[in-house]
Amino acid sequence: MIGLLDRLARPFLGLLDAENAHRLAVQGLKLVPRGPAPRDDPRLSVRVFGLNFPNPIGMAAGFDKHGEVPDALLRLGFGFVEVGTVTPRSQSGNPRPRLFRLPGDRGVINRLGFNSEGAQAVLSRLAARAGSGGLVGVNVGANKDSPDRIADYVSLIGTFAPVASYFTVNISSPNTPGLRDLQQGQLFDDLLARVVEARQRASRKAGLTPLLIKIAPDLTLNELDDVVGAARRRRVDGMIVGNTTITRPPGLKDQETAKESGGLSGRPLFALSTRMLAETYVRVEGAFPLVGAGGIDSGSAALAKIRAGAGLVQLYSSLVFHGLGLVGEIKAGLVKALAGGRRASLPDLVGVDAATMTAEKWPR
Ligand SMILES: Cc1cc2nc3c(=O)[nH]c(=O)nc-3n(C[C@H](O)[C@H](O)[C@H](O)COP(=O)(O)O)c2cc1C
Repeated sequence: MIGLLDRLARPFLGLLDAENAHRLAVQGLKLVPRGPAPRDDPRLSVRVFGLNFPNPIGMAAGFDKHGEVPDALLRLGFGFVEVGTVTPRSQSGNPRPRLFRLPGDRGVINRLGFNSEGAQAVLSRLAARAGSGGLVGVNVGANKDSPDRIADYVSLIGTFAPVASYFTVNISSPNTPGLRDLQQGQLFDDLLARVVEARQRASRKAGLTPLLIKIAPDLTLNELDDVVGAARRRRVDGMIVGNTTITRPPGLKDQETAKESGGLSGRPLFALSTRMLAETYVRVEGAFPLVGAGGIDSGSAALAKIRAGAGLVQLYSSLVFHGLGLVGEIKAGLVKALAGGRRASLPDLVGVDAATMTAEKWPR
């Protein structure tokens, strides 16, 4: 039924301005009937940062920014959903238009700039679903005009600890000026010290919530050395690799749209983000697991992320072009790969290609 509605609605959604189509999709998901999520093939279940995921395919941050439809997304087959980015106070983000499709490239450019209904609105929605089960992470960010951005992350961790399955500290959005500086040197180490401490403090009430850092695919390898070194010293629980890119790979077909400023995602991001994932994996040396995001649009793309080093994967942009039926197709693809391959489980496949990938020519 949902698949049918999805197929019928998609051509129509494709005619709308991208942001209106997104809004309509979220409203449509509110109509998904309640009920338990369908059972996944047991071969897809994975245990990562102490949590049991029914399957490794997650809804990436940015689709459900305000925590309106996490349960509908779980019911449609995602193994976990990341809500956000949420900022402490509500803010409207950048002026529209700020979301663009590149259909010829299967890509998306966004410069939303953390439009957020703010912590209290999202908290009340997540509190209302508490106890419903399912893994729902909260992605946190700083207000654009905040005088102390690190304090924003600290306060959000305190606020959401009772309802978050895990936290993602998003310091890699290209659309809040200066935000990505938090990935650099001493500032990054200060941020880590304070968010790890905030998580520790919150754990007295809520238990220890896993803490992940989401990085940009645009870091240099020297910067990545420093980021991974600090993350290991401060004992974060994982990293998401990664956010959208401000680069524009050569050969994009939708040349005019590609000139829009903002972060590029979807298929044109796959090669860069998968290489950065492998580069991160070899540096982390098993100290914590990684989440792979960027351009996943098939079972084989998800498998490539796992083989590059991802214990879990996330996607967003491909849904714009393929619809929600894609989640089931990706899961079926993974099961098929496991059935036909020499390695019996997904964890056996994590990172098997990382070393060879990092020796290849840099993707362009
Ligand atoms: C429209 C849009 C909005 C996004 N908003 C956020 C966000 O609020 N926070 C965040 O961490 N990432 C955000 N992202 C990035 C995605 O979570 C993901 O990291 C990136 O798009 C790569 O995955 P994909 O190629 O499957 O889309 C957004 C992406 C898109 C396309």
